[in-house]
Amino acid sequence: MILKTLPLFGLSMLAMAPPAAARECARSPGNVLELCVSVENGEALYQVRRGDVTVIAPSRLGLRFAGEGDPRFTAIDDAKRTSVDTTWEQPWGEQRLVRDHHQELSVTLTGDTALNKSVGVTFRLFDDGLGFRYNYGAIPAGQAVSVVADHSQFRTVGAYQAWWYPGLGGERDEYLYGQSDARRITLAETPLTLKGDNGLYLSFHEAALVDFPSMLLEGDGAGGYDAWLMPWPDGVLARKTGPFTTPWRTVLVGETPGALADSRITLNLNEPSKLPDIGKWFKPGKYVGVWWEMHLEKSTWGSGPKHGANTANVKRYIDFAAKYGFDGVLVEGWNRGWDGDWIANGDKFSFTEAYPDFDLAEITRYGKAKGVKLIGHHETGGAIENYARQLDPALKLYADTGVSLIKTGYVRPSGTMVDGEGRLQWFAGQYAVRHHLDVVKRAAKLHIAINTHEPVKDTGLRRTWPNWVSREGARGQEFNAWGNPTNPPEHMTILPFTRMLAGPMDFTPGIFDIARQGKELTRRVQSTLATQLAEYVVIYSPIQMAADLPENYEARPHAFGFIRDVPADWEQSKTLQSVIGDYVVVARQQRGKGDWYLGAVGDEEARDIAQPLAFLAPGKRYEAQIYADGPGADYRTNPEALMIEKRIVTRTDTLSLKLAPGGGAAIRFRLLD
Ligand code: NOJ
Ligand code: CA
Repeated sequence: MILKTLPLFGLSMLAMAPPAAARECARSPGNVLELCVSVENGEALYQVRRGDVTVIAPSRLGLRFAGEGDPRFTAIDDAKRTSVDTTWEQPWGEQRLVRDHHQELSVTLTGDTALNKSVGVTFRLFDDGLGFRYNYGAIPAGQAVSVVADHSQFRTVGAYQAWWYPGLGGERDEYLYGQSDARRITLAETPLTLKGDNGLYLSFHEAALVDFPSMLLEGDGAGGYDAWLMPWPDGVLARKTGPFTTPWRTVLVGETPGALADSRITLNLNEPSKLPDIGKWFKPGKYVGVWWEMHLEKSTWGSGPKHGANTANVKRYIDFAAKYGFDGVLVEGWNRGWDGDWIANGDKFSFTEAYPDFDLAEITRYGKAKGVKLIGHHETGGAIENYARQLDPALKLYADTGVSLIKTGYVRPSGTMVDGEGRLQWFAGQYAVRHHLDVVKRAAKLHIAINTHEPVKDTGLRRTWPNWVSREGARGQEFNAWGNPTNPPEHMTILPFTRMLAGPMDFTPGIFDIARQGKELTRRVQSTLATQLAEYVVIYSPIQMAADLPENYEARPHAFGFIRDVPADWEQSKTLQSVIGDYVVVARQQRGKGDWYLGAVGDEEARDIAQPLAFLAPGKRYEAQIYADGPGADYRTNPEALMIEKRIVTRTDTLSLKLAPGGGAAIRFRLLD
């Protein structure tokens, strides 16, 4: 009816396609975040608000390809909105059930270059953050393209502090974090964590990093951060063929550091598992290893009179593991190639030939009889080509002997990995990203799980490939053997809100011989014994090492009780209290059981933390087995003073956690009724 009354020009307007909208907005399910995407002056922009606070000011989107200039975007077509609210189950994890509750906004940007003519951008908005990714679905199948610029920006507003270290260092991600005004960021690795004067905590990272270079963030000195992708040696960022999607760029937004740590956005943005039967061949667990003794220089990786990986020594560890209920024994230095400068000569490693004093068949037979598995080790020295060539027989050798978990390693200064064409590669460019996932996929076929050291950072791929069980990717315990300096106490209060936002870490806690015959403070573990126990709860990994020598545990049987009890798989996890760089308190409920565990770790200051136990189940009583810093404990002068106490508690109680300087507390809450 109305149409009839419209003047002629109105009718013709209606007959034409509707004008392309210049702006589309969406809100997170609980209305916490609002995102708008727009096209203005040839640029595609997005912005994010949280209530009245601008989280991301209008920031650029888009990629540039070789052979064409920067695109000018002219319109947004095809905005589609979808709501999702599902819950899925992790086969193992820090939390069994994960809720994926988001609003998706997918737009198509119209650009003026051939490859940017039609670009999909999908945003997923959660109440605790967002992710977006590009979809270049219109690139014809088979067409090779080179990405030469990523214009994605994250422009913050106002004053922020950041925890970061400069990217591209030779030690990859194995650096101490510094704290500074975020505007001083030059080039930072992700997860990059910021704390604002506006009360917000932000973390920038990515999810589902597959066949693309790793993203760092380059500061512009004014609160803006530009995507900086680790390039190929010729400067190309990513080489793709045919239609492709990029990894998700993510921003976590919360009012506490714990909101970042307890966010599951990174997992939710990854594809569901491709290994439905993983539960049959990988189980979370704890392990010991012929490992710390090499880092202490008591034995060697290489052959000779002090060779650590000899059959008798390995059997000693298997006996220890069997006696105290560990699932596996890691053995490093078992294979040929360690003699001499193995970092420079990584291409000399054999992954199938053992040193003569290491009898693989006998060791695995012995372990099997005692219910302990050998954990394999492949140190590549960053010589990826040498490893890739041997990968299938190397995996088969282990699979045939019942080894179902392999630790891999890529010790080589970043930027000096030599590829198949003799070029130098970064440790996390597209070349390395491809290699790491290839190893994980090939291992999955043989039912082998992978724990990568010197890895590409985690981006939640454990959801899709749950045999990629853990990684290093930060300054771990090894630095406490030979680091100069070793890790200061505050390191453990920063990791949960930086590196750990990416995923599980094989930190390898549990050093009991802290004083090491009077070694000076900055050349040994800088914590109390209670902190070493608390790390099993504070740091999440489905495989947790008891890193010290067997005799050091047997000399301290009471403290060792906590390591024997603590599980490596959880029903749920909660970050209870924290100040980044000062202290952190985490509680986790054992999967399949009602017991809870709590870990608290502080920096070099002593403090008394009141911790309500409201996370415990209503109406239940628990025996709290408390491992606390003892009288006079101090990481500098008296690190081993430990007090073990038992109390009956309920969820209405509040515990006072008294942390010594460099101290901690570890508690098992054993469900009584
Ligand atoms: C570095 C790893 O992080 C460490 O755990 C390992 O012992 C050495 N590389 C040797 O592979
Ligand atoms: Ca390392």
